[in-house]
This record gives sequence, C-alpha cells and structure tokens, in this order.
Amino acid sequence: MQKKKTVLDFMQMKKKGEPVAWITAYDFPTASFAQQAGMDMVLVGDSLGMVVLGYKSTIPVTMEDCISHCKAVRRGAPDTWIIGDMPFMSYQKSDEQAVENAGRFLKEADVDCIKLEGGRRVASRIRSITDAGILVMGHIGLTPQSSGQLGGFKAQGRDVKSARETILDALAVQEAGAYALLVEAIPPELTAFLTKKLHIPVYSIGAGFCDGQLLISGDMLGLFQIFTPKFVKKYADVADVSIRAFKEYIQDVKSGRFPQDEHVYHITDPMEVFEELFKEFE
Ligand code: KIV
Repeated sequence: MQKKKTVLDFMQMKKKGEPVAWITAYDFPTASFAQQAGMDMVLVGDSLGMVVLGYKSTIPVTMEDCISHCKAVRRGAPDTWIIGDMPFMSYQKSDEQAVENAGRFLKEADVDCIKLEGGRRVASRIRSITDAGILVMGHIGLTPQSSGQLGGFKAQGRDVKSARETILDALAVQEAGAYALLVEAIPPELTAFLTKKLHIPVYSIGAGFCDGQLLISGDMLGLFQIFTPKFVKKYADVADVSIRAFKEYIQDVKSGRFPQDEHVYHITDPMEVFEELFKEFE
C-alpha cells in the first residue's frame, strides 16, 4: 500500500527534481489500476465529457457529472492525491460561486484539491478559493473550456506576444495563491523558463520537461478513438483488445461455444429436484 502524498511531498519533489507522473481517471477501475501502479496523483478531468460521456467538447459537463466521477475515483484510489476539475460555468460567474463549487468537490467527493482554467482573468477566483482553505491548481496555455476563443484545440505561446501573455498568466496564478500550475500545449522552452521562474510546481500536458507529466488515460491506453493529440505516447491499445474480445464473444455465442459447463451453476440430480415442478407448468 502506498502512503498518500501531501502538498509538501510535491514541493519536495520539485526541489529534488523528481518528476511527478499523473494521469486522468474517471471511474473506479482506472483509479484502482493507477493506485496499484503507484501513480503520484490523478486528475478527474472535465475531459470526462469527451472521453467517457461522448460529448464533442467539455462544455456540457456539469458539477453533478464531476462530483459523481470524483467519488468513483476516490473509492478506487483511496490513498492517491486526487484533483477535481471545475467544469465550465462552475466558477466563471463570481468568486462566491467558485468558492461554493470548489467546496462541494472537497465535502462531497473527498478530493485533495481543485483545478480551474485561466490566468489573470481568474486570479480573484484562485485567491478566494485559496482563502477558503482549498488548494488550487492553475491551468494555462491551451485551455479546452475556452477553445472557442482560442480558435480550436491549438498550441499556445508560440510567438513573443502569446508567450508574454502565458508568462503573465503563470505569474498571476502563482501570485493568487495556487499551489501548482499545469501548462498545456506550449513550447518546451517556455515551460522550462516557467519551471525555473516559479517556486510552485509546474506540470505539463504536451508542454515538455518540467516538474511532472500528465496524460489523459483514454489517450495513453488507446480508449479514445476520435482523435489523438501529437503529444500523446500510446502505451496500450485497449480499444483494439476490446473489439477483438467482443468479436470473439459474439462468435462463441452464435456458434454455441459459450457457455460451457464451467460457466453455469450445476446442482446434483437436477431432474430429481425439478421434475415435479416442471410438470406443473407443462
Ligand atoms: O480535463 C482534463 O482532463 C484536463 C486536461 C486536458 C489537462 O483539464
């Protein structure tokens, strides 16, 4: 059994240069596998909308969806650091709304911290949630909830203007009290600069070396078939394994190869037990 990490462990890991390995998970079995494998932390991302619920984007995901999936993940990984992801419109309206919904993640789903998207424009949300005693992870660069404004799921910080905006956002997130920052799809040189500049841990998804790496479990396991971002390393092809298993099962059922004797609950002398009963209904 692994000892559950704390925020102090993650600070130490940054100091020692030990990278954090983390993935997203949305359900009990994946969370359990992650914990058994020794994953440092798990994000219950609002990507669950696309990976698990089949939406075209993360926009339709609700607080109820997130809380329910966070609960399942906590049950599967009781000794792992879990991050709840605040869905679209759960913190955009006001600081009060943000604190109330962040609190729900902790009270109802027992997560360790929350993550929200944005830099300078959500600084007051991060400050308010932090002031309520809740740990916040920032998320800048490619922010899927505002992909409409970004013109799609596009890499950010690739010219001087955009890189400057990214640096200003990162500094604002740290200044507002976030304990860590996730950067998504920005150039590795910019990530390296931020990792050195900030005293809080900087984690990457598709942004090169820093204090830790995140991958979406659906991408790295080969479960999500709609598209695979360039930054994904695929460690398994679960879709292929599943489709092959389903095909074999269909063939077994159609040909009568399934079920076999070992798949049923026999009793001794069945006709002695059932003969009279069956006669009653003939
Ligand atoms: O929802 C999610 O999984 C995320 C990642 C894309 C970083 O926020």
